[in-house]
Amino acid sequence: MKVVCPGSFDPVTMGHLDIFRRAADQFGEVVVLVTGNPNKQSGLFSLEERMDLIRECTADHPHITVDWWSGLLVDYTTKHGITALVKGLRSSLDYEYELPMAQMNRRLSGVDTFFLFTDPQFGYVSSTLVKEVVKYGGDVSGLLPAPVAKAVETKYHH
Ligand code: PNS
Repeated sequence: MKVVCPGSFDPVTMGHLDIFRRAADQFGEVVVLVTGNPNKQSGLFSLEERMDLIRECTADHPHITVDWWSGLLVDYTTKHGITALVKGLRSSLDYEYELPMAQMNRRLSGVDTFFLFTDPQFGYVSSTLVKEVVKYGGDVSGLLPAPVAKAVETKYHH
């Protein structure tokens, strides 16, 4: 079965990669779907850069592929005959944020959302927080894959 792991991934973290791998183990095939407008950069990395970093970090996993989409998520899943989304859940804050989206997506197209509890070692990791830590010179080793850590460092300090 093929599922979609959607998100902005600006940039992908170790927490995201853990979810992609576990989703692939459980469901078989994962499409990591980077959402955003390719013509209008918002955030630190362009859509293309985000995709390249995810590809580099999942190159060893033949059942994880990367794509992008700038419209409604459900239009992508319907177009590709995909019936399930998989997302990570870190806390009750994520729950409050995710529940309405899961219910709206289900109402719009019938797509189901499955949640995997984040591994506790990544429970406090977010793209926003790691970017801020790198920006001000802090150490994020173990929280970002090496190529991503390097790319963030280059954006802020070169
Ligand atoms: O990693 P993020 O930024 O929390 O991911 C949120 C994302 C990309 C899953 C959400 O913003 C989304 O689904 N965007 C696509 C547009 C869409 O379908 N919006 C309606 C959702 S109910």
